[in-house]
Amino acid sequence: MGNSHVAKLVPITWGGFWDIFGKILVEFLKIEEGEYVLDFGTGAGSVLYPMAMKVAPSGSVVGIEKSEYWVKQTSEEISRCGIENAEILLMDGREMTFVDNSFDHVAAGFIGWDNYFDFRRLEYRKSDPDPMVSEIRRVLKSGGLFGLSTWLVQADLDWMHQFLSGQSIACNTNYSAENEKGWRIIMERGGFTDIEFLSHSVSYTYESKEIWWKEMRDYDWTEEKNDNELITGEVKEQAFQEIQGYCIDKGGVQFTREALFVRGRKE
Ligand SMILES: C[S@@+](CC[C@H](N)C(=O)[O-])C[C@H]1O[C@@H](n2cnc3c(N)ncnc32)[C@H](O)[C@@H]1O
Repeated sequence: MGNSHVAKLVPITWGGFWDIFGKILVEFLKIEEGEYVLDFGTGAGSVLYPMAMKVAPSGSVVGIEKSEYWVKQTSEEISRCGIENAEILLMDGREMTFVDNSFDHVAAGFIGWDNYFDFRRLEYRKSDPDPMVSEIRRVLKSGGLFGLSTWLVQADLDWMHQFLSGQSIACNTNYSAENEKGWRIIMERGGFTDIEFLSHSVSYTYESKEIWWKEMRDYDWTEEKNDNELITGEVKEQAFQEIQGYCIDKGGVQFTREALFVRGRKE
């Protein structure tokens, strides 16, 4: 029978590698039926939905999200699919309104800790520990697990950054790779023990060059309000020529994305 009573329809997420990594994070957290769990930074729900499946039918999941847009979108999707044990709240994870020791486990998928921790120098930028980890520890029950995913490699973004730089376009990298050494420090200083790591790489195929380009253009590469003035049709044509080495037989574009999963226990 499985958990078919939880989702009457399959929820729409960002799909692809988001769903693959979301499921791995939920497995890594060892979530069990009946538990009350938090999804920090839900986005389109690639972590929230597998969490809701795992804790069902007697448990439930709360997602928090600072973007009003994603609260609305994902709430509508939860309702559309008839998922009764999940909700999403508009809340900043640095100042959560939950009481202390609320959740059995907390997941945080691809939030990015670069604003708080310098992963090259392996030191905090401002406060130690940072406000997100402090809040997560506060709302987690003793013995509960905090698990997160973060990027080690996004080869498609690395390619695009290198390509645009080669076109003399000053651009952002669009992500900061984090690492195990940094996360060991953050977890230890944040008061977590039994720290464990897992890395997983997926080879991801965009179905066509157009789909790959559309995804790349969703990122803000330049400081300009309108990237189109710099990333023109000609630049796109050039990119399509240079991307050939990543194209597979059926015309898709294949890249590797590698994620690091980190888990620690609140004593
Ligand atoms: C890259 S998305 C990942 C979404 C989802 N966790 C996943 O793995 O598919 C990160 C999300 O976290 C949200 N976020 C980042 N910092 C946050 C904070 N301090 N409080 C609440 N949400 C936050 C962002 O708005 C964004 O929707």
